Amino acid sequence: MCGIVGYIGERQAQQILTNGLQKLEYRGYDSAGVAIFNGEKMEICKSKGRLAVLEERLVQSPIRGSLGIGHTRWATHGRPSDENSHPHTDESGKFSVVHNGIIENYLEIKQELLDHGVTFTSETDTEVIAHLIAVLYEGDLVAAVRNAVLRMRGAYALGVVCEYEPDKMVAVRLASPLIIGVGKGENFIGSDISAVLEHTRDIVILEDGEMAVLKKDSVSLMKVETSEPLQRELFRVDWNVEQTEKDGFEHFMLKEIYEQPNAFRNTLLNRIDEDGKQIVLKDFPLRPEQINRFEKIFIVACGTAYHAGLIGKNVIEELARIPVEVDVASEFRYRRPIISEKTLVIVVSQSGETADTLAALRESQRLGAKVLAITNVQGSSIAREADYVLATFAGPEIAVASTKAYTSQVIVFYLLGLYLAQVKETLAETERECLIANLRQLPEQAEKALQHADDIRVYAESIKNHASLFFIGRGIDYAVALEGSLKLKEISYLHSEAYAAGELKHGTLALIEEGTPVIALVTQKELEEKMVSNITEVKARGGNVLAITLEGNVELHRNVDEVCFVPATLPVFTPILTVIPLQLISYYTSLALGNDVDKPRNLAKSVTVE
Ligand code: F6R
Repeated sequence: MCGIVGYIGERQAQQILTNGLQKLEYRGYDSAGVAIFNGEKMEICKSKGRLAVLEERLVQSPIRGSLGIGHTRWATHGRPSDENSHPHTDESGKFSVVHNGIIENYLEIKQELLDHGVTFTSETDTEVIAHLIAVLYEGDLVAAVRNAVLRMRGAYALGVVCEYEPDKMVAVRLASPLIIGVGKGENFIGSDISAVLEHTRDIVILEDGEMAVLKKDSVSLMKVETSEPLQRELFRVDWNVEQTEKDGFEHFMLKEIYEQPNAFRNTLLNRIDEDGKQIVLKDFPLRPEQINRFEKIFIVACGTAYHAGLIGKNVIEELARIPVEVDVASEFRYRRPIISEKTLVIVVSQSGETADTLAALRESQRLGAKVLAITNVQGSSIAREADYVLATFAGPEIAVASTKAYTSQVIVFYLLGLYLAQVKETLAETERECLIANLRQLPEQAEKALQHADDIRVYAESIKNHASLFFIGRGIDYAVALEGSLKLKEISYLHSEAYAAGELKHGTLALIEEGTPVIALVTQKELEEKMVSNITEVKARGGNVLAITLEGNVELHRNVDEVCFVPATLPVFTPILTVIPLQLISYYTSLALGNDVDKPRNLAKSVTVE
């Protein structure tokens, strides 16, 4: 949802800003722009389209200067166009603003400014901020920004610079992420850490309702509401720039698919005791009597993280016998969920910044529940606000389509399900040890599942021209089908739907015609006969079925057109292996169609608006 960067120091800002924007392009790529103070005035270069278009323009006409802000946009108010691109300025061009978020009362402020005689050049809510700051300016940029912000409702991360005071940059945050990178003789702002990581590992995380004044040698923080100065410890980042590079892979998505075995290892590390008998969750330090008090668990998330939650429900109910309800975050908060202190709410979010999930977290806490977050980003809003955090150690995920973060979330659900079972004594010791032993094998098994990439590439070629596809499964396989279908839709733009296999005959079967590709997940032994019946119904209508099943299940071949095998494991663990061929199917289909795999149209990695 838009990425912002800023630089103040001694070096040339242009390259630093565009490098930062490259790292943030996953947040939106409808347009990009920079404003740099060239020693005399603020010079702006911005353009519709990908960052590469802006970079090309800047190569033709570079801007020299050591103070600047930059933006990469995911359009909310106003279509993607040069005019709607950030930075936005006031009429004099002296104040420049980059913004990530939505100003909810911008029409009201705009009307006041129009009445004041201000002329607008874009359709954005952000332009209002630039004009408002200019109107309120009385020789003190910090005061003008603060007064403007006090008028605004909504969500914003802002970077503001002004020609009158080129020794500073002002940054403000409310409900949109913003960090400050602290360097030596230079300072940075960014929507996330990756934007500044090549320059510094020392980070200040701005909290909601706070603003910062950056000079080249200092960073000072204050509360917007009261102007009260704040002190904040530096946060030292422990991952490196290489982890955010492509490492020889054609796309981030492929790299991230192949990183899954290591992501699993890292996420499991130090969470199983040496003898393989117990799960150790130091980050979830609840006493058994507290855990036993939970009568119900809610899992709340969006998109792919929601699908991880569906697996989580199956795992927790199966192993720990606690009832679990899974909700889409954007629905959860508005449906007056029945929650009390006897409820545990688990929010799942790769980025830790998704606005709907964050709102669900806050609503749950307000209603008295404890919130456990499963997230991949330390220091994210969700990680900071949750009562407990179980981190996934997937490393930075850059491709918009989530892969390794999703499967690492599923790994955490396995750990959590086993841990709750351990505390609640719902499993015999031998049973738990057998599950733990199988859990530990998943990284190697995922490596084996990745070996089918060539066959999958051929299959992807065969489906790329179909108008519609279906994914079917029963039980836990249905949750995987939903994820496979979402992945395919988002990067190949093919229409696809996922169905609980038993539901097809209640309507959807009408859509199956000669050659319609159907991908069937068949991993649950006790459901296999039923699945075969559903597959037969599909084949009788001309459907072309690819089954994803466990090694050894050769019998299934007789009932389908093609089979893809993944290593055999216990029923509860199959999702983490069967999703791998589905990720590869979506990757290779998108590639075959010539799409931008890592940056699919209309989407952004981190959705920080409602
Ligand atoms: C799809 C995808 C999205 C995200 C969703 C939630 O591949 O990545 O559906 O899962 O936007 O994002 P996070 O996990 O950051 O809260």
